[in-house]
Amino acid sequence: MDAIVLLKEDHKVVEKLFKKFEKAGDKAYKDKRKLVDRIIFELTTHTYIEEEIFYPAARKRVPETTDHVLESVEEHHVVVWMLNELKNLDPKDERFDAKVTVLMENVRHHVEEEEKEWFPQVRKSMGRKQLQELGERMEKAKTDAPASPLAVKSAKQ
Ligand SMILES: [Fe+2]
Ligand SMILES: [Fe+2]
Repeated sequence: MDAIVLLKEDHKVVEKLFKKFEKAGDKAYKDKRKLVDRIIFELTTHTYIEEEIFYPAARKRVPETTDHVLESVEEHHVVVWMLNELKNLDPKDERFDAKVTVLMENVRHHVEEEEKEWFPQVRKSMGRKQLQELGERMEKAKTDAPASPLAVKSAKQ
């Protein structure tokens, strides 16, 4: 699969989970816990494959994306720390919904920048074959993704 198509599919999966969270009732604590656990899993896996494979390849083969890549890593940094906090936060805690709301704002902004600002640059400069090859590597790497959001590279300072 084409690398950018794969990453956009992941973005869609996460957006669907966000919409479900927004529709969940205030007191639907069990549902919200399950949804947030899935969001943590999906975003940790996605962040991992981007940082291990896509971002370094973009930087190397399309050097003009470097500033975008570096900014994206800082955005991941904030997101993975929020995911880690949510892992252990009780859905009944008054800060739970607020934290998920800010997480969603951050991720939506990040996805918009990837899809509108710099993935198109990568698509333009990389051939179809390279994108296919990257996509295949990322698909395989998903199974190596860590369970803990703090195990991805950007979690470090
Ligand atoms: Fe990203
Ligand atoms: Fe992404």
